This record gives sequence, structure tokens and C-alpha cells, in this order.
Amino acid sequence: MDNTTPDSLAPSSVPPAYHIRTFGCQMNVHDSERMAGILAEAGYLPTDDPEQASLIIVNTCTVRDKADQKALSDLGRLRVLKKEGGEKILAVTGCMAEREQERLHRIMPEIDLVAGPAQVRNLLPMIDRLRAEKRFQLGRDFDLPEMTTPPAVRPPGVTALLTVQEGCDKACSYCVVPRTRGPERSRPIESIVSEARSLVEQGYREVTLLGQNVNGYGKGAPRGEGFADLLRALDHVDGLLRIRFTTSHPSDLDLSTIDAMARSSKVMPHLHLPVQSGSNRMLAAMERGYTLEEYREKIRHLRAAIPEVALTTDLIVGFCDESEEDFRQTLDAVAEFRFDGAFCFIYSPRPGTPAYGREGIPDRAVSLDRFRRLDELLARMVLEKNRGRIGMAEEILVERVDLESRFFSGRTPHFRTVRSRLLEGETPPSPGEIVRVRIDSCTKAGLSGARV
Ligand code: SAH
Ligand code: SF4
Ligand code: F3S
Repeated sequence: MDNTTPDSLAPSSVPPAYHIRTFGCQMNVHDSERMAGILAEAGYLPTDDPEQASLIIVNTCTVRDKADQKALSDLGRLRVLKKEGGEKILAVTGCMAEREQERLHRIMPEIDLVAGPAQVRNLLPMIDRLRAEKRFQLGRDFDLPEMTTPPAVRPPGVTALLTVQEGCDKACSYCVVPRTRGPERSRPIESIVSEARSLVEQGYREVTLLGQNVNGYGKGAPRGEGFADLLRALDHVDGLLRIRFTTSHPSDLDLSTIDAMARSSKVMPHLHLPVQSGSNRMLAAMERGYTLEEYREKIRHLRAAIPEVALTTDLIVGFCDESEEDFRQTLDAVAEFRFDGAFCFIYSPRPGTPAYGREGIPDRAVSLDRFRRLDELLARMVLEKNRGRIGMAEEILVERVDLESRFFSGRTPHFRTVRSRLLEGETPPSPGEIVRVRIDSCTKAGLSGARV
């Protein structure tokens, strides 16, 4: 900027820029979209370059120790961008922010602002206070009368994330999430439906409904609506082609939800239902609130109602006192339920959780070995399942079209990724269209083919 610039165009009128880095689950990704929405309304512009940003936000996860380490090393790199006396703000949000609070500022005094997930809505007032008071700001509380929903800025595309429920009333003994996300709160159905409508107007065709425990949706709702009612209401949104949701809890998944899934043409035939372990002894120690038999019963209902349903899960190995026999039961359960995919984790003890300090955690080498065996079994099963799709015509919601490399890609109703070659003379589809693709090959990562 040269020194002839009139005052009104001096640096203060340059729109401030923000830079957000996101770790963790889809809920966190969506929280970042909400923060982007709040900042856009306040006149901020996004930037990919943290050096150019006057506000840097690190939106953190703390579910396992590795997540903490990732966020801390990122913060370690970013803190050096702060110049003494400079105006740049370094903010930490998300689940690690909720858990660590002042401690973050103590270990890295460059951090100006720490705000847990429920404080997303207070971002601007906190920034104002920081500027006025010139001292560290800490935001926390879950005592919201109802979940607030700032306008989100999402990346353009076909699929959108939509939070319907937040928080968790369960108390799995290994898990920090109830402490970081607070008790369960749900958004009213009307507010979700109206956001879904506006997403369709913006060109989105698929929504993924988010909640720590979506089946707990509506708990305590004045008219007693539950998750099945929400699914039925969204089924009527014109122009919305596909509905997905995550995460479900085996104890709270009810028959009315299964029924609503089965009857809806928009709710996709895919359920992510974390089982965590195949051993009842481990499930009890994890305080999951169900037995393997009860999980099996839910799956029986699900497959009776939706025969071809895809089932994915989460699994933890190396939990306290897990024996080779417990682990074998997990392998047996995986083989029995024929999962279409799974996220596997090695148990990470989290301070402040009920299981923290319990003895009997297997040696790291043992846990790594179990993790590898589980991963191998799953990879084999997924490849086998994908092979079973060869020769079939799959309906793909087109997400990406690449004219240069001559392919388009998207997902099947069962959430398998498909890459389809563009044939000689074929008119490329548009993102958001549903097209039929004949599958002719696969890997464990996905399917390939060409348009029927
Ligand atoms: N609300 C969701 C997500 C919880 S975190 C749910 O209940 O499914 C996602 C997954 O991380 C969990 O399902 C569990 O498999 C895993 N996880 C949670 N805490 C963990 C820990 N301390 N160590 C290892 N894995 C953990
Ligand atoms: Fe964590 Fe269990 Fe709640 Fe999932 S259900 S968020 S694993 S406490
Ligand atoms: Fe991580 Fe919080 Fe999600 S701990 S997994 S960002 S709910």
C-alpha cells in the first residue's frame, strides 16, 4: 500500500482474512463450515495462507492421543507466525479446546482464544472482547436452551453435512466425547428441514445428517418426535436425492428408524453402527450398554427390512485386559456380520475417562499385531464384497467430473466409491446427476466401470 492512499482505504478497510485448519470427525468439519459462515457474515475473507490471515483457527480433535499430538504440532508451527505486538489472532476451537482450556494458553502463550465446540456461536463476541481487553479469552458452557445453528459456508458440491443432534449422554468408559461435546441436544425438525431445502436450492443433492448419537435425536422433544420422524420429514424435501446419517448407537437404534429407512427412497441403504468389540466381556468393560447378542438382533431386524443394506462399523483393539480370546471373538464377529467397511483403532487411554488408569492394557506390539490381523481380515472381506458387484449396474450420484483424465466419480447407494471411464463420444454427466454404471473391476478401495 503506498502512502498516497486516503485514510478511508488504509489497511483498516482491507477485509480481514481468516484461515481455518480442521482435525477430527465430520462434526468438526461442519463446525468449521459454521465458523466460516459466521466470519463471512462479519466481512472476513478466507485464505489458504496462514501468514496472510489476521485470524487463524485450529479446530481440534482429542478423541485419541494422536489427535492431540497432531493439533499440538500444528499449533507449534503456527505460533511462530505471530509477531510481537502484531494483530494476528491464534484461536483454538473444538474438542481439545474444551478439554484443555487454560492449559493450552499456559503451554503456548501465543494462543489468544480457546473455545469449545458449543462456543462456535460466540466466536465474534470473543474476538471483540479479545481486541478490547487484550488478554486471553476462554469460552465454555453447554447450557444452551437449544442447539444454535449459525449459517454455514460449505464448499461447493453435491453432498452437504447437516448437524441434527449434538452431544452424547452415553458413558463409554474409553471416550472423551461426552466431556467435549456435552449432553445431547437436538435441533427442531422444522429448522433441519428448512436448512435441507435451502441446501437443495444451492445445488446440493445429498445430505449427511450428523450427530454423536443420531438415534438419540429428539430426546425430550415437546411433541416426542424421534429420529424416524426426522427421516420421514426429510423424505418430502423436493430435489433432495439422498439422505445419509452418522453415527448410530446400537442401544438406541430402534425399529421405527429401521422402518423409516426401509420405506424411504431417499434414505440410503447404509448403516454405520459401531460394535467396538465382539467380546461381551470387553463390551461390558467399555460400558457400551449392549451385548453381542443384542447387536446381532438389531442387525437381524435391519437385514430383514433392508436385505442388501451396507453395514459399516468402528472397532477398538487393545482395550484394558483384552485377551487373545476376546480379540478372536472380535474377528469372529467381523466374519459373522460381514461388514462392508470399518474404522479400526488401537485403544488410546484418555485422562478423565472412566477407563483411564485401568490396568491390563496389552503391550503395544500385541495391540499392533491385533490391529494388523483385523485390518487384513476386513480388507479381504471388503475386496470380496466389491468383487460381488462386478457385472452389476450401480446408480451413482455423480460428484466429480474430470474431462482431462476422462472419468467421473461418485458413490453407490451403499456408499461404495465408483470411478467411471468416459467413453468415446459419451456426453459427460453433470455433478448432482444420478447415472447407471456397469461395474467391471474393483480394488478394496472402490469400483470401476463405464456408463450403461
Ligand atoms: N459418536 C460417535 C463417534 C465417537 S468417536 C460414536 O459413538 O460412534 C469415533 C470412534 O472412535 C468410536 O466409535 C471409537 O471406535 C473410537 N474411539 C473413541 N474413543 C477412543 C479411544 N479412547 N481409543 C481408541 N478409539 C476410540
Ligand atoms: Fe463416545 Fe460412546 Fe458417546 Fe460414541 S456413544 S460418543 S463412543 S461415549
Ligand atoms: Fe474428535 Fe470431537 Fe469429533 S473428539 S472425533 S472432533 S466429536
